[in-house]
Order: sequence, then C-alpha cells, then structure tokens
Amino acid sequence: MAEQNSPEYPPALDLERELTRKERQIEYLQTELRRYHNLMEELKQGMRPIGTIEEVTGDMALVRLSGGQAFQVSIPPEIREKVSTEVDAVLSPTKGVIVDVIDRLRERSLLEYQVEKSPKVFYEDVVGLEKELHGLRQAVEWILDPQVRARREAIIRDPRMLEEAGSILLFGPPGTGKTYMAKAVAGTIGQRAQETSFLKIESYEIVSKWLGESAKNVKEVFKLARESAPTVLFIDEADAIGRARMEATTDAGRDVQGMLNQILTELGEGFHVNRNVSVIFATNYPSVIDQALLDRIKRIIYVPPPRTMEEVKRLLDFYCSKVELDPSVSNYRGGLTDEAFADIWRTIRSRKQLYEASIPERGITVREQYVVTPRDLKNIVQEAASEASFASERWVTMDRMLPLFKNLASEDRGSRIVS
Ligand SMILES: Nc1ncnc2c1ncn2[C@@H]1O[C@H](COP(=O)(O)OP(=O)(O)OP(=O)(O)O)[C@@H](O)[C@H]1O
Ligand SMILES: [Mg+2]
Repeated sequence: MAEQNSPEYPPALDLERELTRKERQIEYLQTELRRYHNLMEELKQGMRPIGTIEEVTGDMALVRLSGGQAFQVSIPPEIREKVSTEVDAVLSPTKGVIVDVIDRLRERSLLEYQVEKSPKVFYEDVVGLEKELHGLRQAVEWILDPQVRARREAIIRDPRMLEEAGSILLFGPPGTGKTYMAKAVAGTIGQRAQETSFLKIESYEIVSKWLGESAKNVKEVFKLARESAPTVLFIDEADAIGRARMEATTDAGRDVQGMLNQILTELGEGFHVNRNVSVIFATNYPSVIDQALLDRIKRIIYVPPPRTMEEVKRLLDFYCSKVELDPSVSNYRGGLTDEAFADIWRTIRSRKQLYEASIPERGITVREQYVVTPRDLKNIVQEAASEASFASERWVTMDRMLPLFKNLASEDRGSRIVS
C-alpha cells in the first residue's frame, strides 16, 4: 500500500501529522468553548470588520469593506506608521477607527498548499467498507472520470434523465476511513483516468474571525478547486459550519450567514458536473450540520467501524502484511495466525466505544458499539514496527504489539460520541 511505503510518508511523520491534527482539533474545541462562554459579549461588540485601505491622507484613511461600502476612518497615532495601501485595516465595531492592520487576504491565504495531485491511496487500500465505497464511487466517479461519464451518457440518452449531481456527506466515528476513502477516489481516478486533485479543507479554517472574510474564504476554496480540476473537494469537520451559525441579527451572524450562502451558491445547480469538482463533506457530528446545507447533500453515507472480530482481523492482517512480521506468528499470507490474533482479541475485546448519531430530517439513526477503529490498528502496527527497527530487531513480534494493545484497552474507560 502506497501510503505506508512511499518515502514521502514515513510512519513517524504520519503519526506526527495525526498528532498535529488532533492538537489543532483540541485547539479548535477550546476556542469553540471560549466562544460560547463569550457569546453574549461578542454579540454586543460584534466582530471586527475588515477592509481594504484605498487611500491614506494624514490621520484619515478611506477603507472599503468587502460588502462594497467605503468609510472615512481615523488612524490613531500609535499605528500610523503601519497603515498603508499595502495592508488591510481592522476597524472598530462602529467603523470609525482603524484598530489594527493585517496582511492582505491574498498574501495571508494558506489554502494553496493543501492541493494534493493524485494522492497515493487507492481503492485496494480501503479494507472492508465495500458497500460504502461503492456508494461513494457511484456518486463521484461519473463527475470526475470522463470514461465513466461517457458510459453513463451512452445509456441515458435523454439528458433530462441524467440525475443532477449533488454533494456527499460521510459521517461516522473518528478513524474509520472517511478521509481515506475520499482520498482513494482521487488517487484511483488519478491512476486510471487523469490526474485528479485532492483538496482538503477543515471547516473551521473557513470560518474567519474577521468580518466579511468567511464568505471570501469559501470563494477562494472553490476557486482553487475549479482551477485544479478535476478535484475531490473534501470539506472536513463540516459540523463547524453549522455550529458557527448564530443570530442573524448581528454582524457576526450575518457573516456566518453570508458564508453559508456562499457555500450554497457555489454548490448551485450544475456545479459539480460543469466544473469537474466533487464535493464531499465529512463529520463525526452529523446532527449539527446546517439544515440548508443538508438540503444540498444528495447522498449520505455512514462509515462504520469494524463490527466483528473477523473484520478487525482483516484490518490488522492488512497492516501486518505491510511489515516484517515474526515468522512464528505469521500465516502464509503475511497476516497473523489465528492463535496470535486470539491473544490480541482477548486483550481488547472488552473495550467499549460508543457512537450514536442521527439525522432526523433524513430518517437516519445510528447506534454502534465497537472495539477498535482502523486508525487504532494501523497506529499500533506502525508503532510496533518503528520500535522494533529502533531496537535493531529483524521483525515485529507479539511482544512489541501486545503491550500496545494493552495500553489501548486501558487508556480510555470507554469513549462515547453522541451527535
Ligand atoms: N477502512 C480502512 N481500511 C484501511 N485503512 C484504514 C481504513 N480506515 C482508516 N484507515 C487508516 O486509518 C487512518 C485514519 O483514517 P481516516 O483519516 O480516514 O479517518 P476518518 O474517518 O477521516 O477520521 P476523523 O473522523 O477523525 O477525521 C487512514 O490514514 C488509514 O491509514
Ligand atoms: Mg478525517
């Protein structure tokens, strides 16, 4: 499997990325918490409007907001030196004074580097999830792969019968393969048909603390997706968009509403097909997804954790077959012998993870108790292999893996996600 073996993805780096991502999620949740605590405060003050400085004359400047209105504002002496037409201005809520300056949006944009051309993850790398992957492929491939598109158009002769493409929502507990599946779509089409981009955006990166910028961010993301088409545009943590929605009577609420409207506009009719962009949203908390956004989502796919001991073994074998495994516990296909797996299973089987989610509007309810996720299994094999190599051992032994499974079993007294 390419992701593990290619030099760009050494295991440690992979784990490190995961860690960074989790840290950012924690950071984000902490910010969210603070935001709720300060909600009343914030609603009173409004967000800080930001605009382009068009002209500076003495201690006054002409600042134009993204909405189009321009204001004559005063420049306090302490920031006088920093104010120029090269930077953007942050205004006071009354829009009378410049309180700070920031880099131009164009230069500030961090989105560009996240476009990945034909990622090296393929359908064969997705273990289990046959039904889910089939649903995803059916919704996406005809938009991005010209051959699949041609086959479709050959069978459906009346173009009015060609169903309108829509966005997709993947939901499920963390680490079950949502991002991975979306990536595999771009990777496989890239390998089979034509170079395909994978553009991943975390929703909370779009929600800006600067007034008027959230919608601009959305525009920029979609523009980038079109420019690098064919593209799988993966919008992760999509619940953040719904969470950010507040009373539409304040500037801040209007900003979020503006952002949402921009997304809905971007997803308007014909978008996917005409632009060769397929939009996939993902979340652990589907019940928080905004209703208006949900209306634009054509297909909702639940991505479950492995449900049976056999499914867990299949995943573990898949990852074990990617490393040098102690021959005394290895079966002829490079996976674990039944006895070795039984030891592992005994260690973790009483672990209880619970995932509950519902999308009442679509009649979807999910309640799942499970033991491990594919991410857990992959991490353990990777960690055991890197420990073994560090200790100059020839292969991964059960002595390396079992303690890691024990840790996993003891570290959390059962996690519970309810959405
Ligand atoms: N079905 C699977 N088959 C093989 N490997 C998988 C599978 N699901 C996940 N993995 C492995 O676990 C890693 C994490 O999965 P992924 O990032 O797709 O989880 P996710 O569902 O997007 O989680 P989150 O909700 O936290 O974003 C992947 O990089 C992949 O290596
Ligand atoms: Mg993910």
